[in-house]
Amino acid sequence: MGTRLPLFPEQASTISVEVDHLLYYLMAVSIFFTLLIFGAILYFAIRYRRKSDTEIPHSVHTGFALEIIWSVIPFGLTMIMFGWGASIFFRERRPPDNSMQVYVVAKQWMWKLQHLEGQREINELHIPINRPVELIMTSEDVIHSFFVPDFRTKQDVVPGRYETTWFEATKPGKYHLFCAEYCGTKHSGMIGWIYAMEPQNYQQWLAGGPSGTMVEAGAKLFEDLACVNCHHADGSGRGPSLVGVFGSTVKLSGGGTVKADEAYIRESILNPAAKVVEGYMPDMPVFQGLVTEENVVQLIEYVKSLTPRPAPNAPTRTAALPSTAVSTPSNR
Ligand code: CUA
Repeated sequence: MGTRLPLFPEQASTISVEVDHLLYYLMAVSIFFTLLIFGAILYFAIRYRRKSDTEIPHSVHTGFALEIIWSVIPFGLTMIMFGWGASIFFRERRPPDNSMQVYVVAKQWMWKLQHLEGQREINELHIPINRPVELIMTSEDVIHSFFVPDFRTKQDVVPGRYETTWFEATKPGKYHLFCAEYCGTKHSGMIGWIYAMEPQNYQQWLAGGPSGTMVEAGAKLFEDLACVNCHHADGSGRGPSLVGVFGSTVKLSGGGTVKADEAYIRESILNPAAKVVEGYMPDMPVFQGLVTEENVVQLIEYVKSLTPRPAPNAPTRTAALPSTAVSTPSNR
């Protein structure tokens, strides 16, 4: 920390300037009306004070124009707040398609981060600048909140579900990461740093990491946990083929469908009987307690990687029929 006492955090992400402009607007409106209202109270209290005990106020007529003006103007000002805020909110909720993804698992009292390339970090996150970074976040225990003031990013991290947020850093530097949700004794120590780097430095940093991507870690788990014994890629196993499942709409036994997103894959690993795929028996073992949240996200990345694509030298199959695809996890 330098000697200066900044009123605002640094503007180090693409959205921070916009968030600040909205904040300035909110503050300007608030200050203006605070002064106007308190000024009017003071003025009227003096101007229309009772001057003698016998004085009786005469009746006043409401000014219709005045009523309209002081209803319509505040309405317009608050609708600007609503529209402007909603527009920033929607953009903050939707990661751009070209985002790079990082998985975050929070626990009492640390942040664990995994890059798709395989790098794992604790309380530190290295990212390139000028590239949107999407965080897919969950918690092992209680609610935490991922807060980077310099990026104007704050997102609660909730056990049992995946929350996403994204940001795009604009300046290289080292930025504070906080937990912004009281999560127990050492909540205040649940802090870290985001290192925003020039893209070439980030590539260097990546190259210095361990070999083995998240997909590879997930593939290994898929074998070690014997998932591979039932989930054959050609659909011939006791469990459904997982090829092309991610992002698809899955038909459930007993009717209904579900979108195969991260949350559905996670639930199907931890509590498989919750949503059984049409045509299959609910006989998959429960993996709750056997795999960590970090294992689960590795498995999710592996499932995501199982896209129906023709194997070399194989005839082209239709992508619409995942169960006939030939890329099998067992022959990796
Ligand atoms: Cu985690 Cu507060």
